[in-house]
Amino acid sequence: MSELQPYDSLIQRGPNIWTLDGEWYKTSFRRRMTVIRIGVDQLVVHSAIQLKPEDYAQIDALGHVRWIVAPNAFHSDEAPVYKARYPDAKLLVPPSVFKKFRKKGVEVDGSLDNLKEFPGGELICKAVDGLKLLEEYVLYHSISKTLILTDLMFNMTSPKSWIERSFFRWNQIDNRFGMSRIFRLMFVRDKTLVLKNLDEIAQWDFDLVIVNHGNIVETSGKKGFIAGYTTLK
Ligand SMILES: [Fe+2]
Repeated sequence: MSELQPYDSLIQRGPNIWTLDGEWYKTSFRRRMTVIRIGVDQLVVHSAIQLKPEDYAQIDALGHVRWIVAPNAFHSDEAPVYKARYPDAKLLVPPSVFKKFRKKGVEVDGSLDNLKEFPGGELICKAVDGLKLLEEYVLYHSISKTLILTDLMFNMTSPKSWIERSFFRWNQIDNRFGMSRIFRLMFVRDKTLVLKNLDEIAQWDFDLVIVNHGNIVETSGKKGFIAGYTTLK
């Protein structure tokens, strides 16, 4: 069940794209929701963070919520809150979450494996094939040249304690934009296939990279992204 946790204000990151950062059980990881406007006034909410009722006006001021995307199996709990608030929006989730939600009676509209791009073509959705357990789907917004990742790569900087720093170092995320050791060890099923998918993503024209945990990569995001998965090779 989802739980309301403290969060910051919505910030514009580029043309038709906004983010909202929130706490995640008081850890340094925190988390991030992204809102993308496509067409004239249709909104896509990626990695939903539950808000206080009065704060949804921030989102409503940008357009109409039409899609709610739960981008991987670990970032799907709060998406149904948005579906309840915006019943006309389509809630799209990874295949395993689709099965789980259906079994639990949670209203859900479709599986992300059936989605390639949103109407208009300015927002693309791509599965990272070759993973297990996690089922990560990345978004690419061509208007703002932004790549939106969830747990595929982190960009952490400042751990709150020496225990966290030790863990960050072991996990290869201490002051580094890139794939964590845990991701490599636990979620990669077919290394060759994952690398093929990441090489395909690296062909896209992006500069900004929005990660779910850590700082947004403001510049040279593509160079950083390519460097970020060398540990998998
Ligand atoms: Fe995560």
